[in-house]
Amino acid sequence: MSQPPAAQQHPQVVVLDTGGQYCHLITRKIRELGVYSEIRPSETPASELRGVKGIVISGGPASVYEDGSPQVDPAIFELDCAVLGICYGQQLLAWHLGGTVQKGSKGEYGLAYLDTRAEAPIFRGIGGRQQIWMSHRDTVTEVPAGYEVLGSTETCAIAAMGHSAKRHYGVQFHPEVVHTERGRQLLSNFLFDVCACEQDWNPRDQALRIEEEIRRVAGDRNVFFFVSGGVDSTVAFTLCLRALGESRVRALYVDTGLMRDGETEFVTRVFASLGRDIFAVEHAQERFLSALAGVREPEKKRHIIGELFVQVQQDILESGHYLDENWVLGQGTIYPDTIESGGTAKADLIKTHHNRVAGIQKLISENRLVEPLHLLYKDEVREVGHELGLPPELLSRHPFPGPGLAIRCLCEDAVRPVERLDEGWLAPLHSVGVQGDSRSYRPVLLLDSPPSTPGIHHRATDLINRLPGINRVASLAGSHAPVESLTTTVAYISATRLDRLRAADSLVRSLCHASGYDDKVWQFPVIIVPLGTPERPDSIVLRPIDSVDGMTAQSVPMPLPLLTEMTNALLAQQGICAVLYDLTHKPPGTIEWE
Ligand code: XMP
Repeated sequence: MSQPPAAQQHPQVVVLDTGGQYCHLITRKIRELGVYSEIRPSETPASELRGVKGIVISGGPASVYEDGSPQVDPAIFELDCAVLGICYGQQLLAWHLGGTVQKGSKGEYGLAYLDTRAEAPIFRGIGGRQQIWMSHRDTVTEVPAGYEVLGSTETCAIAAMGHSAKRHYGVQFHPEVVHTERGRQLLSNFLFDVCACEQDWNPRDQALRIEEEIRRVAGDRNVFFFVSGGVDSTVAFTLCLRALGESRVRALYVDTGLMRDGETEFVTRVFASLGRDIFAVEHAQERFLSALAGVREPEKKRHIIGELFVQVQQDILESGHYLDENWVLGQGTIYPDTIESGGTAKADLIKTHHNRVAGIQKLISENRLVEPLHLLYKDEVREVGHELGLPPELLSRHPFPGPGLAIRCLCEDAVRPVERLDEGWLAPLHSVGVQGDSRSYRPVLLLDSPPSTPGIHHRATDLINRLPGINRVASLAGSHAPVESLTTTVAYISATRLDRLRAADSLVRSLCHASGYDDKVWQFPVIIVPLGTPERPDSIVLRPIDSVDGMTAQSVPMPLPLLTEMTNALLAQQGICAVLYDLTHKPPGTIEWE
């Protein structure tokens, strides 16, 4: 929340953020072990860390010896607390205490084997040879005086080091990732044997604390939310409802017309079950549809939706009474999205919708903001939701993008035939990808062998690496017309195409639900693409993926009977010519086609 809450728990372990992507993962793993942990900027003064039992210095992309690289306050090494440096964190530890860090003759990325060299509490019960995961080029080449080398790999002589009396440890590998076989045990040893932490964290116990915090921040004011039907805004709203009562909360839902089949009804039902007169729908379908007419480029679509969403919110604020000082805005912001914890660029982007609207900006600057979940991770939000008795069908929903079906409704502005290549068929459908840290917008390679062909995912990856002009490979699961007769059509977002997509998406969802396949995938976008014949101008793409956080993802196979049933049912739908199966991992493809 905007002010430090009085009832907030004190972290036993602080993770210092040196800019690495693993910082949140470390914190989450520590919390999973039952110890409350928070992230702080790496340069946090030691005086602010007094009283913590342990400090973890995270991994990061910089080199300790470069100007401007993230540093720590050297006084933290004098505090009476344990320290664990991970990757860059180990290098910082060594660098500050008189050791040497150098660029390695070669990098070490991926799996490696650690041989432990000496007895140490962090390796209690897990000594010997073990699989670890590495991602570094720099290494510690000399430990500080009094420190001991605790383990090494073939490429890295100092893969673990420590000083038992000072309780300082460093590891070059990443104990927080699943590929490090005994990483969880190592973290547990650090927390309980080295830091002497107590188990003090269970997200299920948080509801009462958060409700108290909401009452304190809201004072005698009311809270309104823009809800989406997603897990975060629903759980945040429910906590406010419990804290303040029905008469003091409102949930506003904007129906953009870009929602999935039955979504508005679902959200209405969920909120109706929570309380009376707390929920209102703003019908804005026509406004969105007309703003998107004739627009092809993905970024332009996003921009139009973002701006219009902001406009609709502003209209609601101005027409209602939510701008007067009796109201504060509630948001479902979670821990990784908060700026203090180094929220990702993606999170910033997703949040611009809300933050840009002038009325909301005003509320924020006046400190009229309640964010009940700002210290929780997604899994923890789900646990709180269970504790509140929210329906499992809501809590187990797959993530769904803010711009909705608009980014799953591909548009083209010309009729172009598919083209024969040695490796397959070049379909002139442009989709977004992410290659070498930058965005691409390129055609798709179609394979006419079915998605169940052994080794097909491997082949797809190889083809994308070899053919510079494409960023995706999809396989043809079924078609009414021979592949050589397919063409793109001139097609934009329209009511007809959205209805086709909704019907296809709904069918896929119900088959996945009935077969239990939806529990096996992280997300399953269904995309409509303007590829077909004059009678059947569109095709459907299936994109089941596995992921941890959406930042990277793997295209996954599907059981053949389910795929066959799904393909046949989709081909029976009006206007649908073919069913494609996206074989592309992220990178080089993105999850959404846009
Ligand atoms: P991409 O397509 O970038 O998607 O690989 C990664 C994950 O983010 C979701 N996504 C969004 N979520 N607002 C959201 O709330 C958005 O604008 C947005 N765009 C993409 C996407 O569904 C996937 O899970």
